[in-house]
Amino acid sequence: MNEFVLKVNQVNKTFVGGLFEKDRHVLKNISFSLLTGQTTGFVGSNGAGKTTTIKCLFDFIHPDNGDIHFFGKSLDNQSKTRIGYLPERPYLYEFLTGEEFLKLHWNLCFGSTTPDFIERSQEAFRKVDLVEAKGRRLRTYSKGMLQRVGIAQAILTRPDLLILDEPMSGLDPDGRAMVKDILKEEQKRGVTLFFSSHLLQDMEELCSQLVVINKGQIIYEGNLPSFMSEYQSFEKAFQVLKNKENSRE
Ligand SMILES: Nc1ncnc2c1ncn2[C@@H]1O[C@H](COP(=O)(O)OP(=O)(O)OP(=O)(O)O)[C@@H](O)[C@H]1O
Ligand SMILES: [Mg+2]
Repeated sequence: MNEFVLKVNQVNKTFVGGLFEKDRHVLKNISFSLLTGQTTGFVGSNGAGKTTTIKCLFDFIHPDNGDIHFFGKSLDNQSKTRIGYLPERPYLYEFLTGEEFLKLHWNLCFGSTTPDFIERSQEAFRKVDLVEAKGRRLRTYSKGMLQRVGIAQAILTRPDLLILDEPMSGLDPDGRAMVKDILKEEQKRGVTLFFSSHLLQDMEELCSQLVVINKGQIIYEGNLPSFMSEYQSFEKAFQVLKNKENSRE
């Protein structure tokens, strides 16, 4: 099935500067799309515009212009229930226990604690290895545990589309391996997965597709093997792009 789960077309974002600051045009005609059941990596250096793009998808940051369609239409409450999202810096209510935190998300999604919450939350805690800690308040969790409970929240409702901003950040090698295993399980379930990272090696293991962003511009969209045979690394891709820009001037 080759349906688009997400289609982003010509999105721009400018952050308006203050009295002594210039405006910053940080997203420049961003276009890309995600196909049903595919895993797409969103790669770019620090400050390239990954988080701003992802925030624009959900209108947490309002883009200047452009179109964004999920499941063939503008984002609405019904499509929100089909999406799991992990922000770059999740805001977690530290006085809630892990279980209360997941229940809050479930209720925000479905309006009440429907009977399958218990089974689904147990499944999510098992996957992120937090079964023992689920009754503890989040303020007692380590950084890695907080990242993992954030991932549990994102996969809780078995979404059709998972959008994760740097899911491996802050995790030790065991934690990274665990997240990769979770994402592989989600792939088997048929999820459409989109996640950001500044490391190409994170992508190689999981992604079939790649979207590369550099200084607010998409410099590559396509499949990962083609990218690797063309550029070998995204540093090299940036170099080739810079050379192309210089030769245009
Ligand atoms: N609220 C804001 N106001 C002004 N500039 C911003 C704001 N948010 C982001 N920016 C700028 O937009 C650019 C892109 O930032 P963004 O956080 O999207 O990058 P990123 O690719 O996610 O980087 P990282 O890998 O470090 O997370 C940066 O230059 C950043 O300083
Ligand atoms: Mg970011």
